[in-house]
Amino acid sequence: MKRPISFGRVVNFARRMPAVLTQPERLYAQEAIKKIWPEASPKDIEQLRYEYYKNDDLFLDVDRLSLSKRRRRAQWEPWLEFQYMLVRMHKPEIYVETGVFDGISSAVILQAMEDNNKGRLVSIDLPATEPIKGATDHMLEGSLPPGVNPGWCVPQRLRNRYDLRLGDARELLPAALKELGKIDIFFHDSLHTYDHMIFEYRCAWPHLKDGGFVVSDDIFANPAMLHFSKEVGRKYLNIRNGFGCVRK
Ligand SMILES: C[S@@+](CC[C@H](N)C(=O)[O-])C[C@H]1O[C@@H](n2cnc3c(N)ncnc32)[C@H](O)[C@@H]1O
Repeated sequence: MKRPISFGRVVNFARRMPAVLTQPERLYAQEAIKKIWPEASPKDIEQLRYEYYKNDDLFLDVDRLSLSKRRRRAQWEPWLEFQYMLVRMHKPEIYVETGVFDGISSAVILQAMEDNNKGRLVSIDLPATEPIKGATDHMLEGSLPPGVNPGWCVPQRLRNRYDLRLGDARELLPAALKELGKIDIFFHDSLHTYDHMIFEYRCAWPHLKDGGFVVSDDIFANPAMLHFSKEVGRKYLNIRNGFGCVRK
């Protein structure tokens, strides 16, 4: 059934417009990796994509955990393929993520680190015991299953590289970055308001090593990525319609 056009939907549409209208071309994961590393051979890039999909243990373990509480398999977003390939190519020592929820993105990042035999993932999440407006309220299930922590779909065998911190990223992100010093990749997927997104990007940028990455889901929710990329003088990539990537 069609939703009626409310005032809120019109405002939301107007807010998204500058980012939507100026969006860069949509790229598949392999195309984005080729743009970042032009010297990489298409055969090697294709091999990495294949290695993501042939990770039977990852898909089976996470799907089994998801089935146990969600009664469905995990939602494997198309941009997870890019995340896996990015981690395999860049080989980060320290990767910081905000927004964990069930832990599907954490599991993919950790699997790529395991396949690199290198890296640590610091993840920050404010547990969604109730739906959080601007973060989980549009999702299939807006809150965590009862009695579990964020990241509950991360298989036990991948947890030795996982450093999960619970609380508001407004407080925990600056503190974590101060403690970590320099990081290789920052990934935003927590609260998708303009203020919060640009706050996180700006917070992470000075801590990124040269050549490091800010990546973000939902970059067309508002113009935060558009404004941030102008601010730092870097172009951003648009992967699979709405997943952004900026290199320092
Ligand atoms: C879209 S979900 C993350 C999905 C996850 N990255 C994945 O792809 O599997 C958003 C998450 O951000 C969390 N969140 C919302 N506001 C937050 C905040 N201020 N600080 C930290 N986490 C927040 C929510 O509780 C939720 O777990």
